[in-house]
This record gives sequence, C-alpha cells and structure tokens, in this order.
Amino acid sequence: MKVERKCKIVSKEQMGDAIYMTLECGDMVRTSFKAPGQFVHVKCGEGLLLRRPISVCSCQEDEPQDLLTIVFEVRGEGTQWLANRPVGHSLDVLGLAGNGFTMKPEGRYLLVGGGIGIPPMLGCAQYTSGKSTAILGGRSKDKIILTNCFEDECAKVLVATDDGSLGHHGFVDALVHQELSENNNYDAVLACGPKPMLRNVAKVAEEFGIPCQVSMEERMGCGVGACLVCACDMADGSRKHVCKDGPVFDSKEVDWNA
Ligand SMILES: Cc1cc2nc3c(=O)[nH]c(=O)nc-3n(C[C@H](O)[C@H](O)[C@H](O)COP(=O)(O)OP(=O)(O)OC[C@H]3O[C@@H](n4cnc5c(N)ncnc54)[C@H](O)[C@@H]3O)c2cc1C
Ligand code: FES
Repeated sequence: MKVERKCKIVSKEQMGDAIYMTLECGDMVRTSFKAPGQFVHVKCGEGLLLRRPISVCSCQEDEPQDLLTIVFEVRGEGTQWLANRPVGHSLDVLGLAGNGFTMKPEGRYLLVGGGIGIPPMLGCAQYTSGKSTAILGGRSKDKIILTNCFEDECAKVLVATDDGSLGHHGFVDALVHQELSENNNYDAVLACGPKPMLRNVAKVAEEFGIPCQVSMEERMGCGVGACLVCACDMADGSRKHVCKDGPVFDSKEVDWNA
C-alpha cells in the first residue's frame, strides 16, 4: 500500500556531484516495501510543481520511524529545491512506489549501475547475502559513488569510467561481458542507468542467456498511472506505465528501438 507521509530529513551529505539524504518515513517501509528498486515521489516545491521520482537507495524498518535514503543530482528546478532543504525540514513523500526488482535474498546477481543509477543497486546488494557482484560505471571518477558500501555487501566490485579516470576505461557493458565470460553462474543481471547503457547491458545478458531486468527512467507526471507521461514502448507494441507497471521491466519486454 502506497502512502503519503511527511518525512523529516535527518541527514544530508554531498557525495561527489550527488546529495545523499536520509529521511524518517513513519511506517512507510513496513507498509509498502515490495522489493529493492522502488522509488518515492517527492513534492519538490511549495507551489504547483509536480512531484519528482527518486529511487530508494536503501531502506530499513526501524523504531519509532522507518528510515530511507535517497541519492540525487540537481537537474532542474525541482531537484534544486530539494537540494536546498535543510536537515530537520519535512518533505511530502508518496511511496514506496513501483514494483522493484524480482529477486530472492539467497540469489546471486550481477548488479549494474550507471551514474545516478548506482544508488538503487545498493538496496539490491543489501537484500542479497553477499554473493552478488556489482559493476559501477560513470562518466568520470566523481560519478562513482558508494563504492565502500558495495564492497561491504558484494563479493566483487568492478568499476568503469568513460574517461578512464577510475577502473576500466570504457563502458560498463564491457565489464558485464568480461564477468559473464569468466563466470556466468548468476540468477540474473539487474541494471539501472541511462537507456543506452541498459540496452547494451541487456544485449550482453541475452548473449549469455542470463535473465535481465532493467529499471527504466522516464519523465513522470502523476506517478500513479493516470496521465500517460511516463509511457514506455514495449516490444509487443503495447505501452506500459513506468510509474505503475515499472520502473523495473524484463529487458525482453522493452522496445529498445523506440
Ligand atoms: C523511477 C525513477 C527513478 C529516479 N531516480 C533518481 C535518483 O535516484 N536520483 C536522481 O538524481 N534522479 C532520479 N531520477 C530522475 C529524476 O526524477 C529527475 O532528475 C528529476 O525529476 C528532475 O526534476 P527537476 O525538476 O530537477 O528537473 P526538470 O526541470 O524537470 O528537468 C531537468 C532536465 O532533466 C530532464 N529529465 C527530467 N526528468 C527526467 C527523467 N526521468 N529521465 C530523463 N531525463 C529527465 C529534463 O528533460 C530536463 O532536461 C529518477 C527518475 C525516475 C523516473
Ligand atoms: S506518471 Fe502519470 S501515468 Fe505514470
């Protein structure tokens, strides 16, 4: 059950170009957590500004209030407003929304995060029991965040940067290919990041016959399936709502040429 809550900002930290924010969220995790990869829809502004979707990085049931962390970059007016909120301020948050990744705690996953798609993969890493591998990618080393947290939760962490300033010089799909060539004993590849990255990762997973789930990023309006702003083209010609049917889809469902 998705709920609307006033959530107090209890900490806020700059992390590279991103802001890492922890919120007290009442019983939101207890009542609406389904799986890692869900998002919250945060009212970003006092006026008529719409809510903005931000992925849950990690969340936990707690007393007296559940805790959730979000990590975001400033892109425009809404995220700038959010970045300016001080610790102690209460945000109007709708969540937890969306489906999340289909995964089992005892499973072994290849977790692939690109840029601001890295944080939600940490929730996936925390959900499993240390057997997964994380592949983190970004334009340069400043975009590679939370590496220590992934190292605590995963058996292996690999990094790729477009400019070669950290790890492999190139895109994450090359590392996905390398890892699956050496060891393809994974239950699934799970990925979050820009669409071209997701398309390439899905292609590699398919080549190795490993199931792949992708978290799609579309602009959103209502966030509850009522406005079609977030429609995503599917391979069978249908259109699905990223907010209600996603944001996570089986990579074979998505029309990558749309
Ligand atoms: C399910 C989901 C999860 C997300 N999780 C995160 C997250 O964890 N951290 C994070 O930093 N961002 C995340 N985003 C993206 C975030 O929602 C947008 O950056 C934000 O809505 C921009 O709002 P704004 O008012 O600041 O900028 P706007 O003024 O609305 O837009 C600024 C620029 O960003 C582009 N833009 C806006 N929204 C999107 C989008 N969804 N996809 C691609 N381009 C967009 C616009 O076209 C414009 O060029 C997520 C989006 C979705 C759909
Ligand atoms: S954002 Fe309105 S239908 Fe998805």
